[in-house]
Amino acid sequence: MAPGCAQVWGVDSSRPALEVAEQNAALNHPQLKDKDKNKEIEWIEANAFDLLKDYSSSGQRYDTIILDPRPSPKRSATWMPPSAAIKKLNLRALKMLRPGGILVTCSCSYHVSFPDFLGMLADAARDARRNLRLVEVRGQAKDHPVLLNGR
Ligand SMILES: C[S@@+](CC[C@H](N)C(=O)[O-])C[C@H]1O[C@@H](n2cnc3c(N)ncnc32)[C@H](O)[C@@H]1O
Repeated sequence: MAPGCAQVWGVDSSRPALEVAEQNAALNHPQLKDKDKNKEIEWIEANAFDLLKDYSSSGQRYDTIILDPRPSPKRSATWMPPSAAIKKLNLRALKMLRPGGILVTCSCSYHVSFPDFLGMLADAARDARRNLRLVEVRGQAKDHPVLLNGR
């Protein structure tokens, strides 16, 4: 995102994941640091649910928001059903999107089908009182095959 955007924030609850992301950004776009020193990516270690809640209530607005969550393991203290977690995250993001903004939202949860995912997005948009239009649907890369049936 950084070459095309004025400012970019990258959020993850995992410090090692942020470090890898920062290394990837430097490898893919070494010119960023040299050309435009003000245009560094800000890496934020935080729980996305809490961060989005704080940011949306403080009135922060963004042109583009990308969500790529991972279903939280059932043993985690903050566990909630995948569909509920996805809806909550998308709802908070939609509240922070500027009118005409772009939400890029992903799911790799085996437990949420594509039709259910779209339904959940429509519900989140209704709750956020936003009109959401589907612009493009993409799938995963070949190295991340989708499991079609469980055992
Ligand atoms: C599917 S991966 C994202 C991969 C990344 N978009 C990429 O392309 O490399 C999911 C990421 O979500 C992070 N994560 C899981 N739960 C989170 C939470 N509650 N808040 C913030 N990040 C979380 C994990 O640490 C993991 O890096």
